[in-house]
Amino acid sequence: MTKNIAVIRGDGIGPEIVGEALKVLDKVAELYGHTFNYTDVDMGGCAIDKYGDPLPESELKKCIESDSVLLGAVGGDKWNDVPGHMRPEKGLLRLRAGMGVYSNNRPAKIWKQLSAASPLKKSIVDEGIDFIIVRELIGGIYFGEHKTEGDTAIDILKYNEAEIERIGRIGFETAQKRNKKLCSVEKSNVLDSSRLWKKVMHKLAEEYPDVELSDMLVDNCAMQIVKNPSQFDVIVTENMFGDILSDEASMITGSIGMIPSSSLGATSCGLYEPIHGSAPDIAGKDIANPIGTILSAAMMLRFSFDMAKEADAIENAVSAYLDAGYRTGDIMSEGMIKVGCKQCGELIAERIGI
Ligand code: IPM
Ligand code: MG
Repeated sequence: MTKNIAVIRGDGIGPEIVGEALKVLDKVAELYGHTFNYTDVDMGGCAIDKYGDPLPESELKKCIESDSVLLGAVGGDKWNDVPGHMRPEKGLLRLRAGMGVYSNNRPAKIWKQLSAASPLKKSIVDEGIDFIIVRELIGGIYFGEHKTEGDTAIDILKYNEAEIERIGRIGFETAQKRNKKLCSVEKSNVLDSSRLWKKVMHKLAEEYPDVELSDMLVDNCAMQIVKNPSQFDVIVTENMFGDILSDEASMITGSIGMIPSSSLGATSCGLYEPIHGSAPDIAGKDIANPIGTILSAAMMLRFSFDMAKEADAIENAVSAYLDAGYRTGDIMSEGMIKVGCKQCGELIAERIGI
């Protein structure tokens, strides 16, 4: 198969980690007889420097016209003082909205080789950590009106039934493919938007009788994720709650550097990115962990290109690399072999298909 992939290297460690993911994709192409064409897209701080805009229309168009988008990370201190509507992150939000990718899937799964890297007690880790956060990605407070008037700043949080229903369906369908348990997370004791969220989820539940739906307040969920993570199968939640809970969930698995994500909308053209940021403090030092990006590329093959065996090959190669004892600094532990970003990519690429 031939696929056209838009590649956003971005800022900070973005170019390094994306470079390693492309190395892995090239190996897959070679072994399985595919052609992956890459089109570079400028987004984030580097696009502000080049065009004065974090995502010019021409760059967004390249993404929309591609078969899928692979993204590293954007942002950095250098652009901290630019106005809100021009920040690097705004490019990312415009990309998500422009591609219509309303459903963000963030797995929290502990690799058996890394169970010692989790900050949780061994007895909790041993119960198992394997759940998915389905995060609504193009609505809510991120996309409501933002304004500052004198000494007052306002951000609007708004959802309508249709927006909740479409992400709710993804939550139920994801649970149907797993252990059939869906936990809807909101703040219905305080927010109107959360009361609507809960109402829509319960109405939808009638259509998915095989899935067991539960409700949880977001503050309680933050607590339960560290207290008893094995209770979760699929969590569905709104944009900002999902942002916060997915960082928390990633940390209990050992390192945020390991976690990929997929974002999909109505078509198969998806956006694939690690959930971590651009880490400017370690940029250019060849020490970043590229696995989150490499696993995002695997998700692209699985969800957008229908290449399940190729995706399995990447995931198995990551597992074999960990089995062999290689670790980047973020997941380093005693007795393991420390490697840099480039070496990590190479060691994984050479384990594809074996
Ligand atoms: C994420 C990030 C982004 C978000 C930022 C960079 C805008 O934190 O993907 O989780 O808040 O969605
Ligand atoms: Mg985040």
